[in-house]
Amino acid sequence: MLRISNILLACTAVTVTLFTRGVLADCSYTSLQQATREYISGQATGAFATSVSTTNAAYTENFRTANIRTGLISKPLKVDYNRSLHDTLECATYTEVIVTDRAHPYVIGTQMRFNTPTDPASPLTVKQIDSVITDQGDWLFNATGTFYYASRENWFVIPPESRNTRAVIKAAADAYLDLFNNKNVVVPWGTPCNRLEGGSYTGQGRPTDSCNVGVPSGVALVNRRYVIDETLGSVDVFLNFGGASGIPDSHEFRVENGKLRFVHTMSVM
Ligand SMILES: *[C@@H]1O[C@H](CO)[C@@H](O)[C@H](O)[C@H]1NC(C)=O
Ligand SMILES: *[C@@H]1O[C@H](CO)[C@@H](O)[C@H](O)[C@H]1NC(C)=O
Repeated sequence: MLRISNILLACTAVTVTLFTRGVLADCSYTSLQQATREYISGQATGAFATSVSTTNAAYTENFRTANIRTGLISKPLKVDYNRSLHDTLECATYTEVIVTDRAHPYVIGTQMRFNTPTDPASPLTVKQIDSVITDQGDWLFNATGTFYYASRENWFVIPPESRNTRAVIKAAADAYLDLFNNKNVVVPWGTPCNRLEGGSYTGQGRPTDSCNVGVPSGVALVNRRYVIDETLGSVDVFLNFGGASGIPDSHEFRVENGKLRFVHTMSVM
């Protein structure tokens, strides 16, 4: 009898530990949303760069170490459009930022990674901020165009019963990215599907629009860093385009019913 209750006690302890770890390892969706809201509202004044949550954050611009207090993140920008992904498993976010301000237009992709919260109720602190910053002269850059097309797309929250798993979303992105170096890869093309590359758009917003309209070949897309949001069927990937020393690049994908629906790219020339 005593033995059985000891075993039960041990089992309970294991369950409690696993449960606690689960809570510790994940960030809540709402706390991540709070963080991206603070990033966007802070970018309007530059205040996010000096906020408490970013005190110990490492910061890069176009994959190079930069000073968070003097970098673009510290400069006030008039943000016209923003949309974010929230990855509760990796405690990470991705935000697409469009600034059409004629003084200096930008299209920025920012991945943020957060410290594991010890108390689920406390605000998140940022571990790492990486921004891909595109402006005049970058691949197909046209912030007005990016704004025009991005703001017309519908990245609605996928109903729970038709959500794809992280694995399916990531595999769809990887298939597309692998195609640049292997023509035999099977990509789950959706119809319709649209690619927004810089400020250029494939397709005309028709139900027959296809994303299978060609990609370069013999180009390795490496050092992939993912932020995955199942509620939006989406993943953003930071990568080097053209091998280990290739240009800084962001490829973001929206997957619906296992198939590619939207692709957004930013490439720093
Ligand atoms: C960011 O996007 C959200 C959702 O579309 C919007 O409500 C908010 O006003 C935007 N913030 C800025 C500063 O543009
Ligand atoms: C940028 O995009 C806008 C909106 O699509 C378009 O009217 C304009 O001609 C484009 N500019 C260039 C230089 O391509």
